[in-house]
Amino acid sequence: MNTNPTIDGQRLLQRIAEFAAIGATPAGGVNRQALSLEDRMARRRLAELAVARGFCVYQDAIANLFIRRDGRAPSLSPVLIGSHLDSQPTGGRFDGALGTLSAFEVLESLEDAGAVTERPVEVACWTNEEGSRFFPGCMGSMAFVGAGDISGWQETDGADGTKLADELQATLTALPEVEMRPVGHSVAAFIELHIEQGPVLERANVPIGIVTAVQGTKWLQVSLTGEAAHAGTTPPAYRRDPLAAAVEAIASLQQAVMPADPSARLTVGRMIVEPGSINVVPERVTLTLDLRHPEKEVLAAIEARAGTECRAAARRHRVEVSIEKRFDMAPGKFDASVVEAIANACGRLDIPTMKMVSGAFHDALFLSRVAPAAMIFVPCRDGISHNEAEFVSPQNIEIGARVLYETVRELAG
Ligand code: GLV
Ligand code: MN
Ligand code: MN
Repeated sequence: MNTNPTIDGQRLLQRIAEFAAIGATPAGGVNRQALSLEDRMARRRLAELAVARGFCVYQDAIANLFIRRDGRAPSLSPVLIGSHLDSQPTGGRFDGALGTLSAFEVLESLEDAGAVTERPVEVACWTNEEGSRFFPGCMGSMAFVGAGDISGWQETDGADGTKLADELQATLTALPEVEMRPVGHSVAAFIELHIEQGPVLERANVPIGIVTAVQGTKWLQVSLTGEAAHAGTTPPAYRRDPLAAAVEAIASLQQAVMPADPSARLTVGRMIVEPGSINVVPERVTLTLDLRHPEKEVLAAIEARAGTECRAAARRHRVEVSIEKRFDMAPGKFDASVVEAIANACGRLDIPTMKMVSGAFHDALFLSRVAPAAMIFVPCRDGISHNEAEFVSPQNIEIGARVLYETVRELAG
């Protein structure tokens, strides 16, 4: 590997450790859910670091945070790099934070080197990528590209009973000194560094994945409503049990969707049973379906099948069913020129790569609707992510950040 000084690996590792302490969980992970107190603390810390380096900091109405280092031609659109700082409730320390802090490291390294780029370089920290606390995911990047309606999200209930409007307002006012910017601006290119979150790179023993496409995701929220009844006295014919319907629907989908297609993914990640008493036949079950596939038409067929199975099970148990779509990210391809710029950077650094399709969704896919975009993946141990045990080796962190730096140098001129 080329050893020209580029980024400061020690500084980056120390930053990742520092941010992992914000919302740290006893099991070594992070709980820094979108727009929470912990998310606000992380944003504040990043803004402070930026100001200390003399960079300009901005936020917009959905609390996307931007850190700008000017170029020789400030009127040119910036090269944008970054990721997110929010996490899953039991998330790892790298999902999002790696890309955000590596992007900031690139900015600092350019500053350390006294580099003069043609274009401005901006770090973006997108709001609510995870979507676990507030549906949908990728709120910040969706709004940025005009694919999401901020006013329509205000009444969204959080998984913890909060309202988005309150938490968003509190997040914005937590950085009163940061200048507001309109939502969305022109971007020369967007690059997101991220952990792979799957086993492919580690298995292949390749340190860098160049992401050429992202599979599609649909989130459905299914509500099944029957009638509460006494567990001891109510015979089957008298029951309208939504949990019995839910179990049947899920079992049929588990048997039908993934076994039939190795590329298909179906996950029930949340189920709320009400009133939730051991000796009451439930009145209502609310469950989530996370559906994924690289092909739009197949994903649409899986969505249709989910509807069919839920409605059939509801009929059998004489319960009401309603299905709401809460997130719809079509599969998409990244820009060939940015993919090539990343490949060229890896070539110059003599780093082995492989091209791959992302199974996880990312803000970069929304950005790709308004600007040339692509992603850089680094391996994670045992492919584990959305888990407190998530781990990326220091060596791979450094390699990822070097590739990002080298790519930015090319794209920012
Ligand atoms: C992102 O967090 C995803 O679920 O793919
Ligand atoms: Mn992520
Ligand atoms: Mn994630």
